[in-house]
Amino acid sequence: MNSLYQTSIHSLPLLGHGKVRDNYAVGDDKILIVTTDRLSAFDVVMNEPIPGKGKVLNQMSDFWFEKLGHIVPNHLTGVAPESVVAPEEVEQVQGRAVVAKRLKPIMVEAVVRGYIIGSGWKDYQDTGSICGIKLPAGLQQAEKLPEPIFTPAAKAELGEHDENISFAEMEQRIGADLAAKMRDVAIALYKTAAEYAATRGIIIADTKFEFGLDDNGVMHLMDEVLTADSSRFWPADSYQPGISPPSFDKQFVRDYLETLTWGKTAPAPALPADVIAKTQAKYFEAIERLTGEKLKA
Ligand SMILES: Nc1ncnc2c1ncn2[C@@H]1O[C@H](COP(=O)(O)OP(=O)(O)OP(=O)(O)O)[C@@H](O)[C@H]1O
Ligand SMILES: [Mg+2]
Repeated sequence: MNSLYQTSIHSLPLLGHGKVRDNYAVGDDKILIVTTDRLSAFDVVMNEPIPGKGKVLNQMSDFWFEKLGHIVPNHLTGVAPESVVAPEEVEQVQGRAVVAKRLKPIMVEAVVRGYIIGSGWKDYQDTGSICGIKLPAGLQQAEKLPEPIFTPAAKAELGEHDENISFAEMEQRIGADLAAKMRDVAIALYKTAAEYAATRGIIIADTKFEFGLDDNGVMHLMDEVLTADSSRFWPADSYQPGISPPSFDKQFVRDYLETLTWGKTAPAPALPADVIAKTQAKYFEAIERLTGEKLKA
């Protein structure tokens, strides 16, 4: 499989390189988002591509946008990415890009957790709460929460880590009405997706959504949705509370990085070929399990 580490599209104005996606302006109201094969872990971009990862992420997002379209409007326009670039640039966008409505990002990320893991588990061990939300005593690592919880995070400037904030802080930043709407929609999206994933033998432990506003102030779901980058996916058959489950996402790379003495700041250490290959296999397995279909070329 060909890999794409960074795009070079000259027929459109570059808006910027994110950690994983490259964004270009299409007119003044749309954006071309190309998902590259870059991988970021602990907010640091690795030097090696994971071949095909961008296609997996893009096709996962598309799958969920379609499945969840009845809950909230989303940023997709239906315009084919191949139609907005020059002929010699088509290969860079094939299977890995969308033309989206250009929205005003809401600077708070909507994190929903159905299980207690990662930073949430650390927080709970220290405080008995996650992001200020009190939880029952005696929960084990990876245990299912009585109800999914909403734990917002302030979107960081480039190169900074996102920062957990309380719901009250979120209300102050974006207004109480929008905060409540975001929370309710995010929980509904998570519940619907988790229910579907369960039928495919997958647990969605947690996930992060991003929303933006159009010119009329209408809230849209944007960015990537329920991908292996924005979510923790666990195979249901090997799930067991008390241990950190194996997963279909980049936890595999994170676990490898934890074995190194590396300060989790750029530059990233080199990834060995077998770590790249295993990571690639996890991403492909995730999309096949989830959608029941192989990746489209
Ligand atoms: N429809 C949209 N309109 C405007 N911005 C969008 C839209 N969809 C996604 N984005 C933004 O495009 C960027 C996608 O790039 P990527 O996910 O690689 O970046 P990131 O590293 O998460 O970037 P950042 O540090 O800015 O969050 C994100 O900043 C995301 O918020
Ligand atoms: Mg992002």
